[in-house]
Amino acid sequence: MSVETIATHPFKDQKPGTSGLRKKVKVFEQPHYLENFVQCVFDTQRELEDAPLVVGGDGRYYNREAIQKILRIAAANGCTRVLLGQGGIFSTPAVSHMIRKHNARGGLILSASHNPGGPDEDFGIKFNTPNGGPAPEKVTEAIYTASLHINRYHTLNTPDIDLNKTGTIFVGDMQVDIVDPVNDYADLMEDLFDFDKIRALFKSGFRMRFDAMHAVTGPYAREIIENRLGAPQGTVVNGIPLEDFGHGHPDPNLVYAKELADYLFGPDAPDFGAASDGDGDRNMVLGRHFFVTPSDSLAVILANATLAPGYRAHLSGVARSMPTSQAADRVAAKLGLSCYETPTGWKFFGNLLDANKITLCGEESFGTGSNHVREKDGLWAVLFWMNILAERRQSVAEIVREHWRTYGRNYYTRHDYEAVDSTAANSLVDTLRAATATLPGQQLGSYTVDYADDFRYIDPIDDSVSEKQGIRIGFKDGSRIVYRLSGTGTEGATLRVYIEAYEPDPAKHDLDTQQALAALINIANSFAGIRERTGRNEPTVIT
Ligand code: G1P
Ligand code: ZN
Repeated sequence: MSVETIATHPFKDQKPGTSGLRKKVKVFEQPHYLENFVQCVFDTQRELEDAPLVVGGDGRYYNREAIQKILRIAAANGCTRVLLGQGGIFSTPAVSHMIRKHNARGGLILSASHNPGGPDEDFGIKFNTPNGGPAPEKVTEAIYTASLHINRYHTLNTPDIDLNKTGTIFVGDMQVDIVDPVNDYADLMEDLFDFDKIRALFKSGFRMRFDAMHAVTGPYAREIIENRLGAPQGTVVNGIPLEDFGHGHPDPNLVYAKELADYLFGPDAPDFGAASDGDGDRNMVLGRHFFVTPSDSLAVILANATLAPGYRAHLSGVARSMPTSQAADRVAAKLGLSCYETPTGWKFFGNLLDANKITLCGEESFGTGSNHVREKDGLWAVLFWMNILAERRQSVAEIVREHWRTYGRNYYTRHDYEAVDSTAANSLVDTLRAATATLPGQQLGSYTVDYADDFRYIDPIDDSVSEKQGIRIGFKDGSRIVYRLSGTGTEGATLRVYIEAYEPDPAKHDLDTQQALAALINIANSFAGIRERTGRNEPTVIT
């Protein structure tokens, strides 16, 4: 089989520090576009030649075409073996696990996470390194630099392979093992959680609904929750991955997973509800008539972690992204564990996990995970909750309320102002940054400022420094206001304001969140001059 070398032109789209390359499908369909990115990965990651490369995606539109191209380019670049998910499917956490379990030299994940899919929607490709995690900045920088100079890529002139049949097939000299995408991952979950206890819970009449949102977790949830754990057929809904996610927006939150939320807050609500996103790394957890915030979810999982067999023996520490509420900190303090505050973005957890400084980690944006893989993991979080429910035999609401009684409640909300004029957004943050120096000791309303800064993170493992990660204003009573600009928005700037108040008194644990935070929300708005500077009277999205 002869290698074809195709002349091409540079492309300057692989922005470093993002979660790979994420663009409209139409951009990816341009001649040589995807090919150039994949060749840049092979040009910079020489070790990919010798050991397996894991390949798979969330099944969205263009997944299959992309995989056929990747296989030819990998073979032409001397890669000897690929582990491919049947049908081209692998959830993001499953790729992470496959890389680790099979000592692969890396993985290519096809997904645009929670963004919609279809011919006019989004596609993405991301490279994960041998630890199973997203490529660190020095790797994405190298790929980016290569993309500025690329003038050729290697490929083979071979026919498409059948992605649907498991077994071994060759593309040129490269062995492609097409494997069931679920099995290894399901086995890992069975190692971590008490499946006997959860089976007994279902036998006792426990009812749940898992909404896979026509995204990648459908086959995983069916195998694990219905087949292995014995939940009735139909527990998993929207379980067939579709190229356009059934016209849905596969993001598990109260807005986009509305059908699930309505059911859990309705008259026939089951005991438990959960959903995951396009590529399976985010999660949302609900009880009957009860929403668990991701920040509380991390804290409750930490407080109950030893109920799960995989976490019984040892917990090393916990990390949360800076804007995530401080609920987990209180649990860590009580358990005598270290608690790390990292900038927004999963990649900052990688070093801490690799160095065994932390066992659990999470973000307020519906991401929770542990040292079992190097990505956040939606289904894992759901199973962790099921394990806790199976052990405690209380409702979700009872467990969370009891948690608040023990640790106090961190009322928490995020206000997003989307598609704001970038200049206005940047000047708002610049002004806040300049104001931080004189804030400590000052009164804002009835709150006394304890500290204020633009968050700066020094990685405790490699000493790398990340500056300007968001404005923090901490108050003496543990309340906090955080302002930062999104790094993932596509139109103008997205200003995120995170507001948190600590309430130790159980008599005040049942307030409406926006009401409980009303005074701080006012301070956050007026102190930053949001209305004057952005022209917005209210947030686009309140979480
Ligand atoms: C958002 C979330 C962040 C998450 C990222 C990728 O980033 O806030 O927690 O890691 O998406 O899923 P942001 O748009 O805030 O920069
Ligand atoms: Zn995702």
